[in-house]
Amino acid sequence: MTPRDRIVIGSDHAAFRLKEIIKHLVSTLGLDVEDVGTHSEASVDYPAIGRRVAALISTGRFQRGILLCGTGIGMSMVANRYPRVRAALCHELFAAAMSRRHNDANLLVLGGRVVGDMLAEEIVKTWLTTPFDGGRHQRRIDQLEAPLSEGNTPVA
Ligand code: RB5
Repeated sequence: MTPRDRIVIGSDHAAFRLKEIIKHLVSTLGLDVEDVGTHSEASVDYPAIGRRVAALISTGRFQRGILLCGTGIGMSMVANRYPRVRAALCHELFAAAMSRRHNDANLLVLGGRVVGDMLAEEIVKTWLTTPFDGGRHQRRIDQLEAPLSEGNTPVA
C-alpha cells in the first residue's frame, strides 16, 4: 500500500471495540480510513455492514478493506459472494502474509471474539505491507472469477 491509499473498514457490534483500535492503527500507518459502521456496541446484523464494505471493493471504489465481526465467519460469507472480492479470515500471521502473497486478498476479516488486540494489530500490519507474488498465482486468481457455467466445474 502507498501512503495515499484508502482502506474501507466495517464491523458489527461484536467487534466494534476492535474496529476502533484497528482504525486508529491504520491511520497511524499513514493510510486514510473510511468507516462505514457500526458506530456503537448496539446490536446490528452483520450482513448489512458486510455488504457495504464488499460492494465498495467489488466496484473498485476501494482497493482494500477490513471487516470484523464476532468470529469473522459471517463477514467472510457475506463478502465472498461479491465478484472481485477476495476476503481472507486470518487469525495468525502466516495466513495473513500468504493471503496477500498467493491469494491477493483485498479484504482482511478478523473475529473480535477470537483474536486479542495486539495480535490483531500485528495481523493488520502484516496484511497491509505484504505484496502479491503474482506469476502462477495470478492465473489462479483469474480462475476464481470465471463463471461456473462454462464447463469449468469438475464433477466427481
Ligand atoms: C453476533 O452475535 C455474531 O453472530 C457475529 O458477530 C458474527 O460472529 C457472525 O458470524
